[in-house]
Amino acid sequence: MLDSPNNTVVTAKARPKPRLVTLAINGETHEVMVRPHVMLLEVIRDHVGLTGTKDGCESGTCGACTVLLEGKPILACITLAVECDGMHVQTIEGLSENGKLSDLQEAFLDQAATQCGFCTPGVIMSAKALLDNNPKPSVPQIKKALEGNLCRCTGYNSIVDAILQYSGQGVEPLMKRDDAP
Ligand code: FES
Ligand code: FES
Repeated sequence: MLDSPNNTVVTAKARPKPRLVTLAINGETHEVMVRPHVMLLEVIRDHVGLTGTKDGCESGTCGACTVLLEGKPILACITLAVECDGMHVQTIEGLSENGKLSDLQEAFLDQAATQCGFCTPGVIMSAKALLDNNPKPSVPQIKKALEGNLCRCTGYNSIVDAILQYSGQGVEPLMKRDDAP
């Protein structure tokens, strides 16, 4: 309760209290205190420091923030962190092992399927969710799985080719890359 200047009494609006949320992100447990309105994207990037997941539109339209929640692709910018309490989250950082890119990421490089790279983490997470359930998807199935991921740079053919290459469907790398540091 607060006294106002003219001595009428006003009630202070209660601010929602932070809550402890536990997330298993890329196999590591993180406990964070968050207010109820905080989105999973903010937790991943600002609390945990995994900035591979991109912050694009913040309104659920571009797909840049796609991560896997319990293995399913979701948009982290419109998913409340408190709704994910106790769940497993996988981000783009969770695909590489000991600093080595996954074969799916390598296929994107082989096909030059990334330019500015801003959309790429989200695209790859959507592709991973597809491939986990369907190891040899058709082109229409790939396009359907990626319909929520917008890319302003590459055109989409190279992205589809990267997924076809990875899944062993007759697409060869565009060029031989030198892996030497
Ligand atoms: S940042 Fe989440 S959909 Fe664009
Ligand atoms: S590579 Fe630039 S937005 Fe897709």
